[in-house]
Parts: sequence; C-alpha cells; structure tokens
Amino acid sequence: MILGLLKEYGTETRVALLPETVKAFTDLKVEVLVEKGAGASAFAADADYEAVGAKIASRSDVFAKAEVLLQIQPPADEDIQKIKDSQVWISAFNPLWETDLVTKFLDAGITTFSLDMIPRTTRAQAMDILSSMATVSGYMAVLEAAVKLPTFFPMFMTAAGTIRPANMLILGAGVAGLQAIATSRKLGAQVQVFDVRSAVKEEVMSLGGKFVEVEGATEDKAAGGYAVEQTEEYKKKQQEAINDHAAKANVVICTAQIPGKKAPLLIPKEAVERMKPGSIIIDLAASSGGNCELTKNDETVVHNGVSIIGQSNYPAQKPVDASRMFGKNVLNFMKLIIGEEGALNLNFEDDIVKGTCITHAKELYNERVKSVIETK
Ligand code: NAI
Repeated sequence: MILGLLKEYGTETRVALLPETVKAFTDLKVEVLVEKGAGASAFAADADYEAVGAKIASRSDVFAKAEVLLQIQPPADEDIQKIKDSQVWISAFNPLWETDLVTKFLDAGITTFSLDMIPRTTRAQAMDILSSMATVSGYMAVLEAAVKLPTFFPMFMTAAGTIRPANMLILGAGVAGLQAIATSRKLGAQVQVFDVRSAVKEEVMSLGGKFVEVEGATEDKAAGGYAVEQTEEYKKKQQEAINDHAAKANVVICTAQIPGKKAPLLIPKEAVERMKPGSIIIDLAASSGGNCELTKNDETVVHNGVSIIGQSNYPAQKPVDASRMFGKNVLNFMKLIIGEEGALNLNFEDDIVKGTCITHAKELYNERVKSVIETK
C-alpha cells in the first residue's frame, strides 16, 4: 500500500504523521508518500521524512499514486473531485454534524474513515484522536485564561497583602474538562465542576475539583459513555445552579457536548451579565454551537467586560505534540487495515473498522451517522 500524507489547508499547523511515526509504517511494508512541505508548520522538514524512508512528492502526485490519503482536515470540494473511488480517505470530519459532506462522499463513491468516530472502547483507546486533541484543548484553554485574566490564578501571600486564588467553573468533565481541572489546580485556582454524568464525580474530586451535583440528570448506558439530552425540568434546575456559580467565577471553561447534536446552552446572556468585568469564558464547544449564548466560533466577543473566547482549534497551537499524538493514534488505527505485505485490508468484521468507516461503495456504513441523517 502507498500511504499519502497530505499538507493541511490554511492556518492549520498540525500534520497527521510526524517523521518519528513513519518508520513504523515502513516496517509494516507500507510506502509513505509525503506532500512537499506537509510537516513544515509542525517543524518536520521534508528531509526528516526522507531520512526515515518516506518519499516526497507534489500534491497532485500524492493524489495520483496513494491508495490511502491521510489529512487531518476534511477534503475541500476541489480535492473531493480528485479522489478516485478506489482510494480511501482518512481524516477527522465530524460526520455526525457535517452531514452535507457525507452526502458528497456518497455521491463521489469514495471510501472514507473519520477518526473522530472511533468507538469509545477499551481496545480503541490508543487510537482515540478525540481524547488526544481534547487533552491539548483542555490544557491550552486554561493557559490562555491564565494569561488573559487580569488577576492571578494562585493565592499569593505578599507584603502587600493576600491575593485570593481565581475561581474556575468547568462545565463538562470529559477528557478536555478533566485536563482543564488538572491544569487549573496545578496553577493554584479553585475549581468547581458540573457534569450530567455522575460517573465523573470521583475523577473530578481526585483531581482536586469540587463536583457540583444537580439531581435528576438523565444518563443512558447505551450512549457509550457520552452524555444524552436532558429533560426540561433538569435543564431549569441546572441552569439556576450554573448561573449562581458563573456569577462568582473568574473563568468559565465550557466543554459540554452531545455527539451529533448542538452543544447544550449552559451560559445564557443573562448569566454573562451577572459575571464580573474582566472575567473570561473559554468555550471549547464553539464549533458545535457553543455552551454560551454569546459565543462566536473562532472569535472573541467582549460583553460587559467579559471576554467570551470561541477558540475551536487549540491543538493547532501545540502542533508538535498534537501531531505526535494524532500520528500515533493513526498508526494504531491503521494497523487494523494493513494486511500481509502492507496490503490494504478493509475488514468490516472488525467493530473499530466498521464503526469508523463512514462511506464505502456508495453506501453509508456508519449506523450513528445513518440515524442522524434519517432524523434530520
Ligand atoms: P464530550 O466532548 O462529548 O463531552 C464533554 C463532557 O460534557 C462530557 O463529560 C459530558 O458528560 C458533558 N456534558 C454534556 N452535556 C452536558 C450538560 N448539559 N451539562 C454538563 N455537562 C454536560 O466528551 P468526551 O470528553 O469526548 O468523553 C466522554 C466520555 O467518553 C468519557 O468520559 C469516557 O467515559 C468516554 N471515553 C472513552 C474512551 C475509550 O474508552 N476509548 C476514550 C475517551 C472517552
């Protein structure tokens, strides 16, 4: 098999594979063809790829020769035209949300895998790009808040008096939320946390956060560890509790998401208006609508002195480690579709291969995406 590593578009700084992971592919008898300059913004030169056995080619050559095309971002329309139906496209394209793109893949008859759909099972942990990228986002959100906040994070006892620690409110204790708790605690802030899944309470406490319980949350084991939509009664109770905590917080980090659905609205405009000027909201759910009513994706909005930061690509600010983790996840996933002598082997009997495949032979393969499209 020839694996084609493509250069990302626009301001993206990550690359789907760093040279350090290429050798593991060549050991599996996979030839790696790298688009010229693909790793440049993650500080990986073409020569570094060549040194570990990859070949450098133009973008059009990679499209012409590779059996599997790898890029973090989904393909742009003009690239979709170039992909042949015999080729496999692997990236992360949020198919539960980007259903129009899925339709384009179906029309083009391309085989696609979306790495953000890897099932959340124990066997798939080493392939989980969502966990890897959420780790970067949770960490970076706290660092950005610490830099932008007009007050300190830790308590300081100085000759000029005692300075109280910052109050953090973290909404959602998934991978990003837990990383945000750990990073905030290391910087000395006090942390309060909301989540609808009671299972996370112990993890929150073990990281030094305070779990704020709101009774009556709906949980569904069939959701595979994810949150599900809540009843109107619960939402009202939770809203009152969040509003009170947000009013006392210096920083709110929003991470609450429900796969395939708009992110739950947890910080309405009135709650922002009760916050102290100078406070900061970082909304990591910005790309799926945001947890704050005032969030704008990839923009910073200032309302009554409160900054609402809708940054949705923090991983691009840590391109080396983000690419390192992404590449390791890709390798672990691709081992499932690399057969004897490096040949492509799409074994749909494997639950991870089946669960990550979105389209194949003009058919919609993914059950979760199918049900989202059917209910649209
Ligand atoms: P996510 O990004 O989908 O959501 C973030 C958090 O927001 C979740 O903890 C969710 O419960 C919470 N949330 C959703 N709606 C909310 C609301 N209305 N109010 C407050 N909180 C709300 O979640 P993420 O980080 O992708 O992980 C979800 C879970 O998936 C993990 O905790 C874990 O159980 C599981 N997981 C399993 C893996 C594996 O086994 N391979 C890998 C990573 C995660």
